[in-house]
Amino acid sequence: MRNPRAFFRPLAVGAPEPVQEVPFKPSRMIHFFDPSNERMAAKVPALVGTVDILLGNLEDAIQADRKEAARAGLINIAQTTDFGATQLWTRINSLDSPWVLDDLLALVPAIGEKLDVIMVPKVEGPEDIYYIDRLLAQLEAKAGISRPILVHAILETAAGVNNVEAIAAASPRMQGMSLGPADLAASRRMKTTRVGGGHPGYLVRTDPVDGEINADRPIFQQDLWHYTIAAMVDACAANEILPFYGPFGDIADVVACEDQFRNAFLLGCVGTWTLHPVQVGIARKVFSPSAQDVAWARKVIDAMGDGTGAVMIDGKMQDDATVKQCRVVVGLADALAANDPELAAAYASNV
Ligand code: GLV
Ligand code: MG
Repeated sequence: MRNPRAFFRPLAVGAPEPVQEVPFKPSRMIHFFDPSNERMAAKVPALVGTVDILLGNLEDAIQADRKEAARAGLINIAQTTDFGATQLWTRINSLDSPWVLDDLLALVPAIGEKLDVIMVPKVEGPEDIYYIDRLLAQLEAKAGISRPILVHAILETAAGVNNVEAIAAASPRMQGMSLGPADLAASRRMKTTRVGGGHPGYLVRTDPVDGEINADRPIFQQDLWHYTIAAMVDACAANEILPFYGPFGDIADVVACEDQFRNAFLLGCVGTWTLHPVQVGIARKVFSPSAQDVAWARKVIDAMGDGTGAVMIDGKMQDDATVKQCRVVVGLADALAANDPELAAAYASNV
């Protein structure tokens, strides 16, 4: 284990100093694009400003014979696009693949100044983060990059879930984590073939009335991902990094998608992946606190004055703990409204 002072020293001579805090920028949606697809790549400049994060995907969903085209496409897009306040991320190939080393060797010198975050798939433990951490420092030093590229891990292996706390704490480069329900299901040998969301077979059923076990008994679908998202949120919050939901593969089912996103938001996630334009609006709606919630939170904060003691508002008890919850809501609302005049107006009109 590195000592606490060494933790914030660069891992290569000439590499930028590690950040002390993860900079919070609006991060409601990580919008995936395929940089090997010229038609899709041509649309990227028009997406700037409409999504919080644009991610050039190099890993799964890119065919083996398109890996180099994806890498080259991403470099070209990054070099020729002004991203403004929109973050640029990439998902590199997994550490056990033959492509990842070339991904990093090509991307860091060419577009290292423009890349905010590198998403690392199939992370199994802190050793994977140590490897990336040192390699990025060496490449940043060599290329003269002025600020560290941050690292985001996908939680999508059983080993990764076992080691989630150690992964979150592995480096000051850690920016956050996403749930990867598809790979995680395979790794755990779960019997779902879906990408995220519920499953009709994972349920609880109400008790029989008068022993009538075959009568129509209401059933309730349960959330397959609750445990993992909650563990990820705790690991991230305890290490002051940001948790995200991952992919929701049933693009047509915008209703269940909204439910899944909202569960993640309520549990503490700051954003989600969006795989299709139709999911962008859902993510924006769900991961921006509602105007009503913001107005209520402001009311509680105002009523609580210095934050000590207890008051009743509309029959609900408020104290130090509820003020803290309300500050989370208002803090997020203010950060989002600073970049979004529509949200700013909605939040202002409810005060
Ligand atoms: C994402 O990469 C997933 O496997 O769900
Ligand atoms: Mg995956």
